Amino acid sequence: GTVFVLNGPNLNMLGQREPGIYGGKGLAEIGEECRKAGVESDLTVDFRQTNHEGVLVDWIQEAADGAEGIVINPGAYTHTSVAIHDALRAVGKPVIELHLSNIFAREAFRHHSYVSPVATGVICGLGPAGYILALSAMKQLIAARS
Ligand code: DQA
Repeated sequence: GTVFVLNGPNLNMLGQREPGIYGGKGLAEIGEECRKAGVESDLTVDFRQTNHEGVLVDWIQEAADGAEGIVINPGAYTHTSVAIHDALRAVGKPVIELHLSNIFAREAFRHHSYVSPVATGVICGLGPAGYILALSAMKQLIAARS
């Protein structure tokens, strides 16, 4: 099966952006690791990034027919986007919300997520390893449904 791994705004800057918080690894490297982990667990990983909220909505809608599950790091849209909340609510697939940093150990404006109520599960604070953990969990969620 195919899993969409969707990344939101500013995640294209990983490696350069606040490395003390987000680490030194770039998004391309994380994407490569995800694809490899996918091959090992028989998942096709479609790894994407956009800075645009509506594009994330389009991709979530695309997952209804194009993917068996969604792993999403919505970046700052986590804390603002009713549109992403609504799209995920409607898609009918397992959803894992993912953050590199522990959003609860940071500024108060990061403590609320519009995505968590419509996520199957949430991973945060484990850095790039969280992506691999999310794929492993997604594999089990998909197997449990079929
Ligand atoms: C983030 C956390 C968000 O609060 C922030 O806006 C990001 C990245 C993370 O992966 O830790 O852009 O989603």
